Amino acid sequence: MNYQWYPGHMTKAKRQMQEDIKLIDLIIEITDARVPMSSRNPDIDEIGRNKSRLILLNKSDLADPAANEAWIQYFKKQGYHAVGIDARNKNGIKKVQNTILEACKEKIERDKRKGIKNRPVRAMVVGIPNVGKSTFINTYAGKAATKTGNKPGVTKGKQWVRLNKSVELLDTPGILWPKFEDQIVGERLAMIGSIKDDVLNIEELSLVMIDYLREHYKGAIEKRYEVSEEGRHVEVLERIAEKRGCIKRDSEIDYAKASALVMDEFRNGRLGRVTLELPGRGEDKDA
Ligand code: G4P
Repeated sequence: MNYQWYPGHMTKAKRQMQEDIKLIDLIIEITDARVPMSSRNPDIDEIGRNKSRLILLNKSDLADPAANEAWIQYFKKQGYHAVGIDARNKNGIKKVQNTILEACKEKIERDKRKGIKNRPVRAMVVGIPNVGKSTFINTYAGKAATKTGNKPGVTKGKQWVRLNKSVELLDTPGILWPKFEDQIVGERLAMIGSIKDDVLNIEELSLVMIDYLREHYKGAIEKRYEVSEEGRHVEVLERIAEKRGCIKRDSEIDYAKASALVMDEFRNGRLGRVTLELPGRGEDKDA
């Protein structure tokens, strides 16, 4: 995956999206439920104005259930429709489909008044890399979905997949770029593994993670590693290293290995369901 975005890439992605958005009624924006703010790019609000909007908090299986609910309420208050999902799991399909119809209610009623019957709602998926766009499209419109290509009036080459008789989805997602300029955003995207670790210092990242867990998910480290989480964060990392055998040949602690272990385990949900930002906590200038 390439996370190096340059102004040229952004302009191109934006232009492509502006073209695709003309064809659709609804924007399905996928975010990562562990960082719903940092994994968004608000430029989509400008690009997608006048369109119905649905925000999916994906990977909600890895995020804190209470935080998922708080974010859903937060986005709803802002006028979006919002649902938490695990895109790998078909169980959420019905809920998402119902919300799509709810989000497009006005359009459907407008069609009805004009005597247009059964014109499906058209939607496209957008989001920054790694939030689960392809997984969503595969699960929701995967093998069983009917491909409906090149219809008259549809830009040549565009493929639509049918979710059901009322909803069609553009089969290629729009890729939004992360807001790298904001350091906190960069750090949080690195935490969830969306920015390559070699770009950021994994040891620093794991220490920030240890501090965050101790503050907001007290006991999570003790439970997972059976070590005390008291003291300086680096001491906690050292205890984890000793416990898990992250020791070099010369009996020195292998900080890099221990840090990678902590970050991997966080990303796989082994440290529990953790959300890294909450609406109204005052740490996010936007939230
Ligand atoms: P993208 O198109 O937006 O770039 O994302 P993509 O679908 O490729 O998903 C990125 C990774 O996130 C995938 O893992 C996918 O399995 C995982 N993923 C997507 N949705 C969910 C979800 O709701 N819950 C969880 N837990 N994981 C999800 P991958 O590339 O196969 O890596 P990995 O599975 O080996 O970590």
